[in-house]
Amino acid sequence: MKGDVELIKNGKRLDGRLPGDLRDIKIKTNVVKNAQGSAYIEWGNNKIIAAIHGPNEALPRHTANPNKAVVKCRYMMAPFSSSEEHGRSGMNRRAVEISKVTGEVFENVILLDQFPGTEISIYVEVIQSDGGTRAAGITCAAVALAASGIPIKDLPFSVSAGKVGETVILDLNKIEDNYSDADMPVAVLPRTKEVVLLQMDGSLTKKQYDEAMELILEAGEKISKIQRDALISQYS
Ligand code: CDP
Repeated sequence: MKGDVELIKNGKRLDGRLPGDLRDIKIKTNVVKNAQGSAYIEWGNNKIIAAIHGPNEALPRHTANPNKAVVKCRYMMAPFSSSEEHGRSGMNRRAVEISKVTGEVFENVILLDQFPGTEISIYVEVIQSDGGTRAAGITCAAVALAASGIPIKDLPFSVSAGKVGETVILDLNKIEDNYSDADMPVAVLPRTKEVVLLQMDGSLTKKQYDEAMELILEAGEKISKIQRDALISQYS
């Protein structure tokens, strides 16, 4: 364990979860009026809105690709979203990184060649953060994208796994993220199990990696169901 915070006591995590437990997740679609599609997610103490614009003519023009749509993604944390001093100066290096990897997830998902010359914008706005916001943001943006009607080949989900000491845990919250020995956010296309994002902070043995992946795929079934139910309930 990094530092001196005891993250697991008597087999339970500080928030009462067992190592393989997911936080509670709620998703609502079409929460903002002026976007093509949108969604709101509460994932534990994370609160995030994702909104989609497009396909629109790609601007400035030199960013356009005559063969397919380009994906532009912006992940931002609101200045009031965390107890830490950040975000007050706008985009930082971390936000640039998360915007890039989130955009790449959706480049693997949207049927881009149906919209040559256009741009599809994905906005992920973190209102309240408690660790795992990139995973929650991707999970939410996937629902917003589906709600927008833009054709996609699958509905990706994302969640992280990591380890405390030698114990593999699912879905790290902020304190776990800060003091754990590894954190591995992953995004998956559920139909094919294709991995479209995998980042790693720290290290896992091969056996721990396999265990983490198993937890992620198992959790993915629950997350996918919550995503689909949110989409279905927009019609009822
Ligand atoms: O949110 P995620 O786990 O994807 O990203 P991270 O960079 O591993 O950050 C973990 C958590 O630390 C975030 O969810 C925030 O709650 C917090 N954080 C923050 O408040 N300010 C930052 N500049 C970076 C992280």
